[in-house]
Amino acid sequence: MTKGAGAADRRGRFITFEGGEGAGKSTQIARAASFLKDRQIDPVVTREPGGSPGAEQIRRLLVEGEPGRWDAVTEMLLHFAARRDHVRTVIAPALAEGRWVLCDRFVDSTLAYQGYGHGLGEAPVRQLADLTIDGAWPDLTIVLDLPVEQGLKRAGERAGREHRYERMGLDFHRRLREGFLAIAAADPDRCRVINAMRPVDEIADKIAISLEQLIIVY
Ligand code: TMP
Repeated sequence: MTKGAGAADRRGRFITFEGGEGAGKSTQIARAASFLKDRQIDPVVTREPGGSPGAEQIRRLLVEGEPGRWDAVTEMLLHFAARRDHVRTVIAPALAEGRWVLCDRFVDSTLAYQGYGHGLGEAPVRQLADLTIDGAWPDLTIVLDLPVEQGLKRAGERAGREHRYERMGLDFHRRLREGFLAIAAADPDRCRVINAMRPVDEIADKIAISLEQLIIVY
């Protein structure tokens, strides 16, 4: 983080990217990182589940194997176990140093996938977030939204991926899409929903506007 004198005295900014399968998060995170670098902000780019050595080990338990491998509660707990390690060892230290953090998925994914998709509801997910993330809620969340069929088609075209969640069925994916939209509607100051069916450049420009707004007030 090289922006401005005294930047290290300030907490950095935490930006998360959310959405269903095949929404194009990786592409847009790369574009967002390069937009920030052009403005002398060198972000930490990370992902969930994973992002730290311990959390990457837990990731394998979550993304590999049969769809019914875990019951919904166990799955939620595994996501939060991974997340706590990631927050404590990567995200919180980076923010404390004044670094900006771009994270591919965070608590909203657990709300959408386990809360809405698996039907656990928002309450247990929010309780576990309160217990585990030490208040590290994102400053900005980009929700890339697209129809489930298109997203799964795109995701299926990517070779060599773990795909436990992609095999969970259309209804599961429809519920989590509705979940993301409901979460964003309830928290409009933090969340921005963007139509992921639009061209990559157009989406990147929209995200850049939100990033610019964060930079202006930083
Ligand atoms: P990825 O494909 O975006 O790397 O994410 C791996 C899968 O994990 C993806 O299908 C979404 C799922 N997931 C959850 O179900 N709950 C969570 O809390 C997170 C972070 C991811």
